[in-house]
Amino acid sequence: MLRVCVCVSGGGTNLQAIMDAIDAGKITNAEIVQVISNNKNAYALERARNKGIAATAVSPKDFADRALFNEAFLACLDETKPDLIVLAGFLVVLPPMMIEKYEGRIINIHPSLIPSFCGKGFYGLKVHEAALARGVKITGATVHYVDAGTDTGPIILQKAVEVQPDDTPEILQKRVMEQAEWQILPQAIDMIANKKGVS
Ligand code: GAR
Repeated sequence: MLRVCVCVSGGGTNLQAIMDAIDAGKITNAEIVQVISNNKNAYALERARNKGIAATAVSPKDFADRALFNEAFLACLDETKPDLIVLAGFLVVLPPMMIEKYEGRIINIHPSLIPSFCGKGFYGLKVHEAALARGVKITGATVHYVDAGTDTGPIILQKAVEVQPDDTPEILQKRVMEQAEWQILPQAIDMIANKKGVS
């Protein structure tokens, strides 16, 4: 059984998609052992608790500096001995020591077709605002391994989504989530749990 820790910052619809996929048998050989957020008020924490999954907030606001926060976050992560760390809408830059320790075992969902609209400053709604401003006709989502860069790690899965003429960033975000993110993130976890075409 792959021990999965999910890191979240907000609403947690991707976390919900993972939990639903486990319930539906679309992800096998994996269990969520812990959900961690940098944000005490993240609704994602409630989604986890409703499912009986351990959910913890480690907020930078509670620490004197970034180094102490990073240390506490890593300690919390280590506690449940995860095999895989899933960044599901986690909007914190990972400390290098965490990337080093869990190299090859951290994946992230990004709401565009990398290498478009990714990197520093591209997160959440900003990604869709940039896609609409550029006038692309196709966007999508990407699941990739996390390395020391921002959105630069090896790509596992991508799915394209059409942009419609009257899209607002919010409408496009919802379509990308429904048609791409909520499908490819659970699929990637199942691939890793069952060693299907990934290391
Ligand atoms: C998702 O769209 C995810 O792709 C994005 O944040 C949203 C979180 O939604 N992540 C990034 O932009 C990372 N760079 P959720 O909390 O409802 O899953």
